[in-house]
Amino acid sequence: MSGYERAHGSNAIGRVLRAAFQAVGLAHYYAPLRESLGRDKMHNPLLRVAFTGMIDFVLHEIYWIMASASYRLGRRPRPAPAIAGMIDQLTRSGHAVYSAREFAPEAVKALEEGLWRAFDAFQDRTPYGYRPKAPVLWKGMLCYPAVSENQVHYDAISQKECELVWDFLEETGCRAALEARLKSRLSGFNVRVWRYFPRGASSVRLHRDNLPPHAFKMMYFRGEVDEVGGALKVRGYGGEERTVEGRDQIIIFDANRVYHESRNPAPGRHRDCIEVCLMPELSPSRRVQYSGFEAEHPYNPFKSWQVPARELVPLRPFGRPTGRLIAV
Ligand SMILES: [Fe+2]
Repeated sequence: MSGYERAHGSNAIGRVLRAAFQAVGLAHYYAPLRESLGRDKMHNPLLRVAFTGMIDFVLHEIYWIMASASYRLGRRPRPAPAIAGMIDQLTRSGHAVYSAREFAPEAVKALEEGLWRAFDAFQDRTPYGYRPKAPVLWKGMLCYPAVSENQVHYDAISQKECELVWDFLEETGCRAALEARLKSRLSGFNVRVWRYFPRGASSVRLHRDNLPPHAFKMMYFRGEVDEVGGALKVRGYGGEERTVEGRDQIIIFDANRVYHESRNPAPGRHRDCIEVCLMPELSPSRRVQYSGFEAEHPYNPFKSWQVPARELVPLRPFGRPTGRLIAV
């Protein structure tokens, strides 16, 4: 049984299918590696996909086994009693929902006075609907235009603000609960602060994310959110559905496997969100490294997270141009 299975549970068919999808998906994502392996060496594109997919899979598994082992050998944080049940919820359904007001008011206050305030100041300065027009390399991270025209992203998050988010995860016990669930230390690899508002016809329809394997996502919605205000809906492992409604709600979920969607907020409404992606990490000392617009794109497992990306490389699966870039 692989590390991924230990974390998520599965059956044999599910394992085979997921390994296949993962191999193809990873091979697609890591086109630069495939390029560097050399087209001359392997002419058959199917063979190339199988080969690089297998390497990716093995690398991820080795990484995961090491992360799990280091967690088992090291000192483990204890989940705060108030959210000890989070581990069961994440195991059972892949998502857990809490109100920020239920615990650690100091942590909530620090975020409000730090990141939310900075976001509000940014909103005042920036025309509504600001988004980068083309992919840019920013602080070593690839920033893509927002996926939808009705999102506006706070684009100047500092390392200090990232650390506020990390402190929040720590002080609320969310980190400890997730680590106990994944049996690994965690690192944050992407922080986004963004507003979802009604514009155009687009809305974020039912989908799953394409984050690195084993990654989880936390979304913290500011203030009162309801269905007409763009609330997130999730469909858990067992198909159970839940709408994240209420005041200052936080959801932690397995975004790669749990389907989720948010319908366009009604006119005059908007939804603010702090989002952080978390994944297994070998070193206990690393904290949130990046912040940006899209969680999926900056990730490149063949370079250290602590080394900023230097250039953008065209993504060319099977040698065909896609117009997309990956940071290396
Ligand atoms: Fe998503």
